[in-house]
Amino acid sequence: MLASVEIRRAIAADIPDLVRLWHELAEYHASILPDLAPSAGAADLMTARLSDGLPSGKWVAFVALHAGATIGFLTLRPVGVSPLFDGRKSVHITDAGVTASHRGEGVATALWNAAETWCRAEGFEQVELGVVVGNDGAHRFWTKLGFTPQFSHLKRAL
Ligand SMILES: CC(C)(COP(=O)(O)OP(=O)(O)OC[C@H]1O[C@@H](n2cnc3c(N)ncnc32)[C@H](O)[C@@H]1OP(=O)(O)O)[C@@H](O)C(=O)NCCC(=O)NCCS
Repeated sequence: MLASVEIRRAIAADIPDLVRLWHELAEYHASILPDLAPSAGAADLMTARLSDGLPSGKWVAFVALHAGATIGFLTLRPVGVSPLFDGRKSVHITDAGVTASHRGEGVATALWNAAETWCRAEGFEQVELGVVVGNDGAHRFWTKLGFTPQFSHLKRAL
């Protein structure tokens, strides 16, 4: 683990850094799957989404700080209980990423540890996320933490 990394809940003042890191993540995804290239308005949309979501609790975010810079993030969206299925209180990891120069230093593990502690304290019983097919590093990262594949998401052009 990188020495002197601070992990904390994100606040409104973190939104520009969250959007910058989200954009870096989106560019990374686009390098694997071009359909995921962020649109021209994506940064503004993400800013609006977080500006509404963080204060209202619709979204929860954690940030990793090192030497005065925000180097990683993880966002969650509480989903709640599905009365149709298993009845467990669920939370969805919407995005997670570490800036390229700090990958492989334990930053995302530390972010997940903080997020997991929060999820358990809030009474969530299960957590899920999607991983882009071909993002083998992320797949290995999450499976190492105990996540297992549940769905295949299929798509075709029309
Ligand atoms: C995936 C990602 C979030 C992991 O963050 P990180 O801080 O680099 O991860 P950690 O250093 O905490 O890694 C913990 C473990 O995950 C695995 N892992 C993480 N990134 C990996 C990669 N690129 N390739 C292979 N294994 C990887 C390793 O097994 C590592 O354990 P080890 O150090 O004992 O080998 C980061 O690499 C990243 O931002 N990637 C680009 C964006 C992305 O894919 N985001 C996730 C979308 S679901």
